[in-house]
Amino acid sequence: MTNGEGVQRADFVVVANRLPVDLERLDDGTERWRRSPGGLVSALEPFLRARSGAWVGWPGVADADVSPFTEEGLRLHPVRLSADEVRDYYEGFSNGTLWPLYHDVVVPPAFHRSWWNAYVRVNRRFAEAAAEVAAPGATVWVQDYQLQLVPAMLREQRPDLRIGFFLHIPFPPIELFMQLPWRTEIIRGLLGADLVGFHRPGGAQNFLWLSRRLAGLEPSRAAVGVRTKPGVVPFGDRVVRVGAFPISIDSAGLDALARRRDIQQRAREIRAELGNPKKILLGVDRLDYTKGIDVRLFALRELLEDGRIDPDDVVMVQLATPSRERVEHYRQMREDIEREVGRINGEFSRVGRPPVHYLHTSVNREELVAFYTAADVMVVTPVRDGMNLVCKEYVACRYDLGGALVLSEFAGAAAELTSAFLVNPHDLDGVKNALHAALTVDPAEGRRRMRALRRQVLTHDVDRWARSFLEALGSQPHTE
Ligand code: ADP
Ligand code: G6P
Repeated sequence: MTNGEGVQRADFVVVANRLPVDLERLDDGTERWRRSPGGLVSALEPFLRARSGAWVGWPGVADADVSPFTEEGLRLHPVRLSADEVRDYYEGFSNGTLWPLYHDVVVPPAFHRSWWNAYVRVNRRFAEAAAEVAAPGATVWVQDYQLQLVPAMLREQRPDLRIGFFLHIPFPPIELFMQLPWRTEIIRGLLGADLVGFHRPGGAQNFLWLSRRLAGLEPSRAAVGVRTKPGVVPFGDRVVRVGAFPISIDSAGLDALARRRDIQQRAREIRAELGNPKKILLGVDRLDYTKGIDVRLFALRELLEDGRIDPDDVVMVQLATPSRERVEHYRQMREDIEREVGRINGEFSRVGRPPVHYLHTSVNREELVAFYTAADVMVVTPVRDGMNLVCKEYVACRYDLGGALVLSEFAGAAAELTSAFLVNPHDLDGVKNALHAALTVDPAEGRRRMRALRRQVLTHDVDRWARSFLEALGSQPHTE
């Protein structure tokens, strides 16, 4: 079916700031597509590929005029953003206001009316694009903090649609959310959905409270469960449901990849390239100030200084995907981290053997799985993270029950991965002790922990997450 302008319509539409692929403009003027960064795409892409759906999103560069196209069965509908909109809507309101505000104001959020105006304008564009692509009665699933006004804008244009919204980052404590000058508009935007989903019940609970305080509604008061007992907000002639749906990964896919002989071989090569140390510590993150990369570096330096670990025995690898590089806090953090890496390596390197291998790059899936396989200790220390998929990916790859996971209590995943070495990233001694404990864990105890972690990650995969959300929304797209 097509609409009046010849756009092919779909019964299931994902709307996210980014398309699953990013347009890259090379220095020689040519262009190519590559996978977009971040957990949202990692989680949704395998799910949507297995279904007949369309994806509405930005191709990742300013002023790109790209017509809708099909990529391996997925119909992609690019939304164009001008350079000013990238600055004000994406780098500005989304990542200079909402991202820090929703992550416990780790850095101060900036409130600018021009950014807000761009956010409204761009959200309207996404809503219009979704309205064009969605077939009559279709399900539209809007994603994340960049598009919180889309549910209400879309409902206005297309009351026939079933609209879901999922927030991939933490929903902040009420006191912090109330700082936002446009707090009521955001709550009203989200209330346009039939179902609003968060990772944790606490986020859902905060939203219910705010719908009373800011929108004058009468939400239910009972506690929200995980995947059960959603809250309800009667709103005009509709009811908005509000629930907790912890996101996950393609666990079986990663497990299968980790078992491949070529990946095992590559893991051995990585170990050899690192000089066959006794222990490898690994961090894998977007280069973001919420991820606590500095925390793990400080802990490593002090452990080396205290003589509790030997630089001959232990190597840390940090893979850091470049992210939001034009936003000031990100620039600052990159400088700080690179200075700290330099300092540690300056103090503790032997020729050819730096204790920290820092790679400012993203690697492909096979290589990533080889790194997970090679790592003895996975270090995940965010000061705040909605869920964190990296820790789940590591666990999914350890079918050998080897390896140990050090995980921040402030990642949403900590509520599920209770057999990890849990740490408070603000407590440096605690982080040091947890790293040391993970490095020296008795093998039987390590296996016991990993078995428990795997039970959780393999049974709660991304398919289950998506199905539980869509069932609660009253919709299930058909599988091809
Ligand atoms: P976020 O969404 O905030 O970036 P998550 O941990 O939820 O954090 O998801 C990050 C995703 O990006 C994971 O799928 C992870 O494998 C991937 N990723 C992060 N850093 C790298 C890297 N350097 N190379 C390849 N993939 C990476
Ligand atoms: C997190 C956010 C996503 C975002 C991703 C990458 O996962 O929840 O919405 O796409 O980070 O960030 P970027 O700004 O590059 O899209």
